[in-house]
Amino acid sequence: MKKNYLLWLFMAFLPTFLYAQKWNELSKTPQMGWSSWNKFQGNINEEIIVGIADALVSSGLRDAGYTYLNIDDCWHGERDMNGFIQPDPQKFPKGMKWLAEYVHARGLKLGIYSDAGTETCAGKPGSLGHEYQDALQYARWGVDYLKYDWCNTVNINPKGAYQLISDALRAAGRPIFLSMCEWGDNQPWRWATEIGNSWRIGPDIWCSFDSTRVFPTYVQYSVMDCINRNDSLRQYAAPGHWNDPDMLECGNGLSVNEDRAHFTMWCMMASPLILGNDIRNMSEETKAIITNRELIAINQDTLGVQGLKLLSKEGLDYWFKPLANGDWAMAILNSTKKDIKCEINWQNFNFTDTQVSQRSTSFNKYTYQVRNMWTKRMEGKTSKKSKKQRTFIVPSHDVVAYRLIKQ
Ligand code: GLA
Repeated sequence: MKKNYLLWLFMAFLPTFLYAQKWNELSKTPQMGWSSWNKFQGNINEEIIVGIADALVSSGLRDAGYTYLNIDDCWHGERDMNGFIQPDPQKFPKGMKWLAEYVHARGLKLGIYSDAGTETCAGKPGSLGHEYQDALQYARWGVDYLKYDWCNTVNINPKGAYQLISDALRAAGRPIFLSMCEWGDNQPWRWATEIGNSWRIGPDIWCSFDSTRVFPTYVQYSVMDCINRNDSLRQYAAPGHWNDPDMLECGNGLSVNEDRAHFTMWCMMASPLILGNDIRNMSEETKAIITNRELIAINQDTLGVQGLKLLSKEGLDYWFKPLANGDWAMAILNSTKKDIKCEINWQNFNFTDTQVSQRSTSFNKYTYQVRNMWTKRMEGKTSKKSKKQRTFIVPSHDVVAYRLIKQ
């Protein structure tokens, strides 16, 4: 009798358990993909999205890990007579189910966008009052990712609103990644670890390395603004839920050095890697940056620790990120307008990450091989005995990035 009861209990909870597992699997490492917003804003349609799907495959981006194809604001048409949202028939004549099938057939996943308020930021229908219905509609279409924005939410409680859509997505039965886009206004890192898979930490990025763009009612962040904001939030990131400093601007007009620095820092910070350029038509330089597998491996490292800025000295910032196999990633960022000479003595970098991982570099105890992840060259060892200190230039708005391979 008792045995039967236990078996019954086990069977009853198995689906819930397996489902929760499935949900957590979605963000074991930061999400990677492409989104329409940075390049196209509202000017999107089926042809563009299909073209991007094809380009993700043909350019090798999918195989490098970029699997989410996310349609941002302005795909929406009207709600039907039962309240179910429909895509704009002019822009997406074949509909979202067709598009999801197209995308899935190419080994990709489809992302969509909505908003917790009455309207999206671009004035399209929001999900307020339609949360369960919208989640069901996305699940029926075969959507895999939802970016959920925060415009037009007067008198709405943020935690309640994001919990509601999270519950609605789970109830709809299909594992859908929840990318919270609340701009960090209500410190979601303090309350959203069980609600969303990632949360935005600040305002929208724009294509600038270091100037904040100020409008009367809002600001847009530069690459450096995003890095500086994210720096203090590393203890909140972990497998399952990531700080999101916003989508990448690589390939949208920054210099090659700046693109390299931007990409490197998103990898060091375990940030979502969501491309925002027109990948149907990109330079070889952009492609080489965004497909750097050694950097992507740093971003996707299973230890899931957001890197830390250990030291800022004479214009250079020294960042470290512990990795699952005992290696460390290390980046030297020059955010100044001048090239800077750098001299490294590894013994100055003995430290323990007491805040998150408890890992120590222990350069006084262990030797690491120094692998330059951009030039792909080995650059000696960190050992105490190797007296020869290397000096080199870190160019303005650029980085030097190493993988320190533990011996
Ligand atoms: C907000 C978001 C952006 C983008 C736009 C769309 O500004 O933060 O990332 O989704 O809305 O309108």
